[in-house]
This record gives sequence, structure tokens and C-alpha cells, in this order.
Amino acid sequence: MINGEMTITRPLRWGMVGGGRTGQVGYKHRSGALRDGTYRLVCGAFDLDEARGRDFGVNLGVAAERCYADVQALIQGEAGRADGVEVVSVATPNFTHYEITKALLQAGIHVICEKPLFFSVTECEEIAALARDKGLIVGVTYGFTGHPLVHQMAAMVKKGLLGDIRLVDMAYTHGFNAGDDTGAGEAVKWRTNPRTAGPTFVLGDIGTHLYYLSEVVLPQLKVERLLCDRKAFIPTRAPLEDHATVLMHYDNGARGRLWVSSVDAGNMGSQRYRFVGTKASVSWSDAHPDQLHYEVQGEPGRVLHHGMPYLEEESLAADRMGALHTEGLGDSWANIYLWIAQAIDARQRGDEAFLASHHYPDIQAGLEGVRWLENCVRSADAGAAWVDFR
Ligand code: NAI
Repeated sequence: MINGEMTITRPLRWGMVGGGRTGQVGYKHRSGALRDGTYRLVCGAFDLDEARGRDFGVNLGVAAERCYADVQALIQGEAGRADGVEVVSVATPNFTHYEITKALLQAGIHVICEKPLFFSVTECEEIAALARDKGLIVGVTYGFTGHPLVHQMAAMVKKGLLGDIRLVDMAYTHGFNAGDDTGAGEAVKWRTNPRTAGPTFVLGDIGTHLYYLSEVVLPQLKVERLLCDRKAFIPTRAPLEDHATVLMHYDNGARGRLWVSSVDAGNMGSQRYRFVGTKASVSWSDAHPDQLHYEVQGEPGRVLHHGMPYLEEESLAADRMGALHTEGLGDSWANIYLWIAQAIDARQRGDEAFLASHHYPDIQAGLEGVRWLENCVRSADAGAAWVDFR
């Protein structure tokens, strides 16, 4: 159980690029990072608008002179300080991730970057090599995978409680873009433009969360082939998609079905997962993250609750609140940030043995998400054809 005790040598000096006053995701980063005292927010280039970014940073308790105009000014300003920043989170639109991450790594700063990580696998490989050469950690904020019951599902699969996996069924859908984009805000504008979003809209924006969570639960399964059908129901979003379905064949013979949409009018259900094995199934949704449905063939269904002693140790180790008391998205993000802090701390201590067995969403996880997107686009552009995963 996580109780806020310091599990690393000392708090990390942390900064942010993006995530400013108008940013959608910035608070989730701060809520995750600042929960356990493992990070101390010391600087930022929070906003495209310098004055607004500085005002915002000061309101967060950051010294005015450490609220910078942009990432380059941050790197220069922090380089001269004995107490300079050690790790920076990147919470900016997709098209900026690569340049900002590269600049930070070149300056010797660990990075925590938003998904989808970059635009291409080639870029991911280049940055992974740079991080390796510099001995730096890159974490990726797949923020939903800190929920304790996600790790319960992984542990149950590992223990064989489900039997051999046959079906993987996942959906992340909402209706927030069901109408056209007239008068849309910045966050919609950059998401629907290939120059700023990258090769995908909803596949990258929400589909990568599904894909990564399935990798956490089923690390032994690899996709062999996939078929992706994507469509822009609002034509101005083309060539990007606001809806996609993906079929997947796994190397053990299992079949996968994934649906992402931002035009699923009226749906506030968010994410749904069902993993079906030869003996039993588990179903979980982030709308009710405290509950896991466990159905054994021929037996009445069961609802498992977070924090209960009957759960696997991997799940209990990620629990914060204890049974009866609701856990939520903030707790999940706090776990992700804690696990990344532990990785950075281990690297700073030179504890490679710890790192070898420590699990957190790392640059390889970010790369695999981008690889999956590249395969989806290749399939969709070939007219929703089956393609070998590569
Ligand atoms: P947004 O458009 O709402 O906010 C972007 C923020 O970054 C704004 O504060 C803007 O002023 C700032 N910004 C933009 N360019 C900048 C630059 N070059 N330097 C400094 N600041 C800059 O975007 P949103 O929705 O917050 O998304 C940001 C990233 O987070 C995207 O990559 C998105 O995919 C990801 N995201 C991830 C979520 C998750 O659950 N992990 C949830 C929502 C978004």
C-alpha cells in the first residue's frame, strides 16, 4: 500500500513545459507529481503566452524568475543553477513533444512526456538512443494504468486464473466532438490538424491508452496482424479520424477488437475493457475503477473491490486509499508519477538491478504506442486491409 512515505532518496526538482492555465491536462500532472512529496515544482515554461505562464507559475508557488518564456529559456536559466531542474514534464500539443524532449535530454534533464509520444517510430528510436546515451529516464503519462485493479487483472492473467487468452475487447469513446468544429477551442483545433496532431486524431488521442493498458495486462501477447477502419464523420477533420475500429490477431491466436470515437454522442462511459480466457473473464472500466468484474465459466459472477485482502499483492501494492474509500484518476496519476520518480532515483543511484525489474510506462511503451498507430494508419490507408504488424 502506498501511504506517502518517501521511497526515494530525496525529492526531485521538477519543472513543466505546457500544462498552463488554459491547458486541459496540466493539473493531472501536478496532482500526480505533488501527491507524495517525491517532486518539488521549481520551474516551468507553462504557456505559449509568456506573461500568462509567469502569472500562472507564480500562483503555483514558483519563483517569477524561474517561470520561463519557452523550453530553451528554461534550459539556459536552469543550467547555471546549483539547484537546477532535474526532470521536466512535457504537457504540450503533440507536434512539440519531439523537439522539446530532445532539447531537454541534450541538456541532461530527465523527461516525462505526454502521449502519443512522437509522430513516428523513427523519432522514438532516435530519442530512445539519446536517452540511453545520456543515462536519462523518459516516462510517458499513460495516466490510467496506475489504477490498482489494472494490476489485479495483470496478476490474474499471469497466475493463469483466466486460462489462455482468447478475446481482447476494448473501447474508449465519448461524444465531445459529435458536432462540427465551428468555434472550437485550441485543444480541438490542434487535435484535428495533421500538422499539429500527427497522423491520427482519436487513435492517438485515446486509442493509445487502450493499447498500453492491454500491454500491461497481457505483456506476453503480441499483435501479429491488424485491420483498421477509420473515418472522419465531421469531414473537415479528414484525413484524420474521429472514429476508428481496429481488429487484431495476436500471436497466441487470440482476437482483439478495439473501438475509439469522439462522436459517440451522449456517451460518458469512457473506457471499457474485457479480457476473455478459456476459463474466465475480467471486465473493468475507468468509470468505476474500484470494481473489477470476474466471471468464471459456470459460476455466478463476482465483483472484486480495490483494497480488499483477497486481491493479488501487485494490486494491493498500488492501493492508496484502502477498501471502502474510493480511489480515482488522481490516485492513478500519482502512482505513475511515483513509479517514474523511483526509476529516476534508481538511475541517479546507479541501481540498475532495481531498474531491470521496475515497471513504469517508459520510452519503449511510448514507442510501442506510436508503432501501433503507424500500423493502424497503414491499414486504414490501404482501404481497411489486414496488414502484418511491423
Ligand atoms: P491544451 O491545448 O489544452 O493545452 C496545451 C498547453 O500547452 C497550453 O497551456 C499551452 O499554452 C501550452 N503550450 C503549447 N505549446 C507550448 C510550448 N511550445 N511551450 C510551452 N507551452 C506550450 O492541450 P492538452 O489537451 O492539455 O494536451 C496536451 C498534451 O497532453 C497532448 O499531447 C495530449 O495528447 C495529452 N493529453 C494526455 C492526457 C492523458 O490522459 N495522458 C489527457 C489529455 C491530454
